[in-house]
Amino acid sequence: MLQQPSWRTIASLSHCSSRAFAAPLAASLRCRSQRMYSIHADASVGTSITDIDPSKLSVTKTANPKALLPPDELIFGRNFTDHMLSLEWTASEGWLPARITPYQNLSLDPATCVFHYAFECFEGMKAYKDKNGSIRLFRPDRNMARLNKSSARIALPTFDGDALTELIGKFVKLDERFIPDTRGYSLYLRPTIIGTQRTLGVGPPASALLYVIASPVGPYYRTGFKAVSLEATDYAVRAWPGGVGDKKLGANYAPCIVPQMQAASRGFHQNLWLFGEEEYVTEVGTMNLFAAIKNKQTGQPELLTAPLDGTILEGVTRDSVLGLARERLEPKGWKVDERKFTMKDLADAADEGRMMEVFGTGTAAIVSPVRRISWKGRLVECGLEENVEAGPVAQQMKDWMESIQYGDEDHPWSYKVPA
Ligand SMILES: Cc1ncc(COP(=O)(O)O)c(C=O)c1O
Repeated sequence: MLQQPSWRTIASLSHCSSRAFAAPLAASLRCRSQRMYSIHADASVGTSITDIDPSKLSVTKTANPKALLPPDELIFGRNFTDHMLSLEWTASEGWLPARITPYQNLSLDPATCVFHYAFECFEGMKAYKDKNGSIRLFRPDRNMARLNKSSARIALPTFDGDALTELIGKFVKLDERFIPDTRGYSLYLRPTIIGTQRTLGVGPPASALLYVIASPVGPYYRTGFKAVSLEATDYAVRAWPGGVGDKKLGANYAPCIVPQMQAASRGFHQNLWLFGEEEYVTEVGTMNLFAAIKNKQTGQPELLTAPLDGTILEGVTRDSVLGLARERLEPKGWKVDERKFTMKDLADAADEGRMMEVFGTGTAAIVSPVRRISWKGRLVECGLEENVEAGPVAQQMKDWMESIQYGDEDHPWSYKVPA
């Protein structure tokens, strides 16, 4: 009972290789072609085991409320609110009652599996205060779905996303005084799941901890947009077909720091991840990437981003920009396309006067305009005049997104936390 559901996960992960042994060529070819896409791992917990029940929440308030920092002194991820939300899970009992407690250290045995085999996944999302003082989350269902996918892939438990959203709402409400009510400010939320079994044995963890901490943050661009310069990384890859680059696992992030530092040592703000001999453009740092170029044959403006082929993180901002572009730019003559494109496609567009703009997308900045990309010893200019920091599409997307996030525009993507 205890290990059974987890072994189901292992079985589903090894599905391709065992099939390839059993039925020679056809199955092996089928597996190989399917490997372009990431596996869909089962949850490591059976549905009969207790799921999250928000009605069982207990709250212990802090006796020492923290002083609020002046908004202009907030640094991303450095300061945290008074409380944290946590839920323990065991393979035999499922999710135990949620607790909101004062923000505090974790106490874990040095042999805990998270420290040895990277049983960790997380999310990044924000809570915003609207002009009426209500708190809003932006598309929390998307973060919950992605966290479930990440967790299942590393044999950690899944959960009811609506139930966790409800609990996050209660947690954010309790710490709402930390959300500055100025436009551009928000509360960054970090839901995290770790394997907590004390063992050096490599296997599915029989216990886990889900916790959420919150950090007040200021606008990414305090004094307006600042376009960044990128270095295309050709000596390392972030993700590969059949890998886990489309999951938000902590293990995906540490190996990205050295290429980022090397780009920085040569004067670039970020590195651009390419993939394969074709040098497909995938992501920029920890953001998805969009390019607006004119079609070579027709001159039609196209907004391009890499497809979700298993090597790209399914960004909530990416999906939102795509949705808004399809709804609001396509009627104006744009083509919006999720397709593979190469660094050479971008360089050709720049050389032929077809480059319009390039920008990254992510929860932290919403959009991050790109000025130029260093590639094969040359600089590919990305359509911005020297004194201009953002193209019109990037600017428009930031305005549309903020208007929804801060509740100025009534939109189904904005989730109002119950008062
Ligand atoms: C690798 C990577 N790509 C893209 C994104 C953007 O995702 P989102 O728009 O959900 O913040 C992130 C940020 O979480 C990321 O870490």
